[in-house]
Amino acid sequence: MNDTDLVLVTGASGHVGAELVDRLAATGSRVRAMSRKPQDVAVPVGAAVVRGDADEPASLDAAFAGVDRAFLMSAETIDPDTGPTHVPALVDAAVRAGVSHLVLLSVYSGGEGGDVLAAWWAQIERSVVGSGLRWTLLRPGRFMSNALAWASRLDGSDEVAVPFAHRPAASIDPADIAAVAAAALTDTDGRHDGATHQLSGPAAMTPSDELAAIGALLGRPLRAVEPPLDQVRAGMIRSGMREAVVDAALARTLESSDGAEVLPTVERVLGRPARSFGDWLDAHRDAFTAGRSPASPSSAV
Ligand SMILES: NC(=O)c1ccc[n+]([C@@H]2O[C@H](COP(=O)([O-])OP(=O)(O)OC[C@H]3O[C@@H](n4cnc5c(N)ncnc54)[C@H](OP(=O)(O)O)[C@@H]3O)[C@@H](O)[C@H]2O)c1
Repeated sequence: MNDTDLVLVTGASGHVGAELVDRLAATGSRVRAMSRKPQDVAVPVGAAVVRGDADEPASLDAAFAGVDRAFLMSAETIDPDTGPTHVPALVDAAVRAGVSHLVLLSVYSGGEGGDVLAAWWAQIERSVVGSGLRWTLLRPGRFMSNALAWASRLDGSDEVAVPFAHRPAASIDPADIAAVAAAALTDTDGRHDGATHQLSGPAAMTPSDELAAIGALLGRPLRAVEPPLDQVRAGMIRSGMREAVVDAALARTLESSDGAEVLPTVERVLGRPARSFGDWLDAHRDAFTAGRSPASPSSAV
């Protein structure tokens, strides 16, 4: 990678992408952030913003013009009947633009396993691996940022409904995923070429543990309550997920311990330990404290 090489970050307004844009800009890389709403995306000085929508492949040529390396992610709703279109469209645009290296944000098990989720992610990963460009796959487990979904539910009761609240996962800070992505995108010795990095955080915690840590920050005894499985399933279907996808996701959650293992990858790539949930919470405390008055001494007991 030369100092003049341009890196495109898709999903630049997302948890990983925003961290990645900041990190690349801070370390002197030329970076272009892609969003469907570029006017809403704040980027650091020196970074550029471009409009691009994976649903409109024609919009991607301007986004990829002059780009040397690209970070690809997908926010597409899984539809087993159609198969993925977003990442394949991004890859096609990258090939047209002469991009040299793609770094894909995948999921923990990638295309492995025999269900509809595996089939979906296998197609996405294949589009990158089969592109003819250099590639790196990132396969992270649960994101610590999933806890942000609780922030709006903390007014009132100290009990919060959390599906699978007692299932452990070594959740990862999106900033660490971004740091590994940045290492691959700025690699000069080919160390990340053809590498699949499965990523975890530094400790297995349950959502219930994470909620308790947020409670300690707020001085409240927050407790996770697990809703019954049929309610969880109905909620997932209401959110727009296809039934076959819901069934596969629930079967994985109930039948495997995927994501609970603490992996050495972040430390191996970055030369420092993965960030803890406490580190993540320190950096995102405003999401939980803003607009909330501190607990009174009696409610903090
Ligand atoms: N959450 C987890 O626990 C977890 C675990 C493993 C893997 N993952 C994977 O991580 C990814 C999510 O990453 P994230 O949390 O960083 O993202 P995020 O915060 O959910 O943000 C979604 C991003 O997708 C972009 N986007 C949505 N529709 C788009 C379109 N049509 N064209 C181009 N961009 C579009 C949005 O950009 P604009 O709105 O600005 O256009 C936004 O930046 C998913 O692929 C997920 O499967 C998540």
